[in-house]
Amino acid sequence: CLSPALLHLYDTKGAIVVIIDIFRATSTITAALHNGAESVIPVASVSDCIAIGASLPNSLTAGERDGKVAEGLQHGNSPLEYPTSFVSGKTLVLTTTNGTRLLHMVQDAAEIVIGSFLNLSVLCEYLLKQDKNILLGCASWKDKFNLEDTLFAGAVVHRLQHAFEVNCDAARGARHLYNCSGGDHFIEFLKDSSHYRRLSAFGLERDMEYCVTADLHPVVPRLQGDRIVAI
Ligand code: MLT
Repeated sequence: CLSPALLHLYDTKGAIVVIIDIFRATSTITAALHNGAESVIPVASVSDCIAIGASLPNSLTAGERDGKVAEGLQHGNSPLEYPTSFVSGKTLVLTTTNGTRLLHMVQDAAEIVIGSFLNLSVLCEYLLKQDKNILLGCASWKDKFNLEDTLFAGAVVHRLQHAFEVNCDAARGARHLYNCSGGDHFIEFLKDSSHYRRLSAFGLERDMEYCVTADLHPVVPRLQGDRIVAI
C-alpha cells in the first residue's frame, strides 16, 4: 500500500500496481471506459492535454487542477460527465492533480490497473487470479495521506487477504481503517475527509456519492502503452 511520497520505498518492478484516486480520477476513468470510451490517455500537464487532444480525432480533453476544471480543457474530472451517450467511442485525454501524476511515476511495474469503488468486485476477482506482488497505489493529495484512497485500499486488502500474504503495515492499517468505517456507509465516513470538504465547497457532493457506490461499473481498466483501456 503506497503513496506517491513513499513510492521510492517500494519495489514496483514486476508487480501489479493498482492506481487508486477515489475522489475522483480513477472513478472517472472507470466510468468513462465502462460507458464505452475507447481509451483514456493520462497526461501529466494541461498543455500536453490540449496539444494531444487537438491532434487526435474523436477525442475530448478533460481534467482538473485543485479540483476545478483546468483552464483550456473542454471537460472536468467528474464521473457523471461521461455517460454512454456522450463518451461512447471517444478517447478521453485526461490530466489530474494527483491520479494521473501517480500513474506516470510508476515506471517498471509488470502491469498497471485502475481501482475504484465503481469496479471493486471485478478488480478483486481479477487480482485474485494473479501470482505477482500487488501494490495498492494511493494517489492521495499532493503527497499527503488521504482517507478515501486508503479506505478503498483497505477494502481490497480485506477481499484479498485470504489469498495473499499481507506483508506491510500500511496494508494492515488500510484494512483496519476499512474495518472501522461502518460497513458500506462510506460516504458518511468520508464526509470528514479533507478532499470531501474541498470538493463540497465546489458543490460536488453528488460526484463523491457516486464515487463510493460499489460495482456500478464492472470493468478493469489497464494501462497499455500510453493508453488506459478496458480489459
Ligand atoms: C486528482 O487527481 O487529484 C483528483 O482526481 C482531483 C479531483 O478532481 O477531485
